[in-house]
Amino acid sequence: ARVCVIIPAAGSGTRLGEPVPKAFVDLCGVTIIERCVDNIPDSLGASIVVVVPADLVERARELLPGVVVVSGGAHRSDSVRAGIAAADAAQILLVHDAARPLTPAHVFTSVVQAVAAGHPAVVPGLPVVDTLKQVAPDANGLELVTRTVDREELRAVQTPQGFTREALLRAHADDSGLATDDAGLAERCGIPVHVVPGDPLAMKITTPWDLRIVRSVVGEPAS
Ligand code: C5P
Repeated sequence: ARVCVIIPAAGSGTRLGEPVPKAFVDLCGVTIIERCVDNIPDSLGASIVVVVPADLVERARELLPGVVVVSGGAHRSDSVRAGIAAADAAQILLVHDAARPLTPAHVFTSVVQAVAAGHPAVVPGLPVVDTLKQVAPDANGLELVTRTVDREELRAVQTPQGFTREALLRAHADDSGLATDDAGLAERCGIPVHVVPGDPLAMKITTPWDLRIVRSVVGEPAS
């Protein structure tokens, strides 16, 4: 395939407070990971690699016919590297959080188009609506505002994040395990990262509140 989508789904989802790892939580009759894979537009002609906790590899293979399933590591970036190792020879690699199962097709296509147009690293992002304050503890340990950040310059970044094969390999060649996204690793080695419009539906399920929102969106009749 020209495009390979790597889906890290090996997190425990502790903050979600569900009895199973996040990617295996039910979303109106299917698991989050099934919904996420189903949501990848066929028009990409993409191969798919899903990275899950070691004890759920067999379960994921049952749930996801036609998908390559491998086991992940302690940190997100370890899981992404396991996914890269299992990817085919595609020249465009997307890394997409399992935790964003409602990501619309236009986000995938604009990321792929921007990488295909010659940008080595592309992320979807949205303007920030809240006012953001930087804080530090005061003498009593209370949070004190040190400054207000100019939100016009900020983007809340989502996935899928797209890379040329070369850029993603370079980004992951030297990793201390601390990056929260793949573009962050690319930035650290001087690879330019461009932003295309994201979408509210590409929201990440992290907390019980997020799960409520996503469940209510899925449960709604199409309009
Ligand atoms: O923890 P967070 O929500 O930022 O994780 C983002 C994505 O990375 C999730 O889809 C999660 O399953 C995945 N992940 C992983 N391996 C880890 C930690 C997180 O694949 N060790």
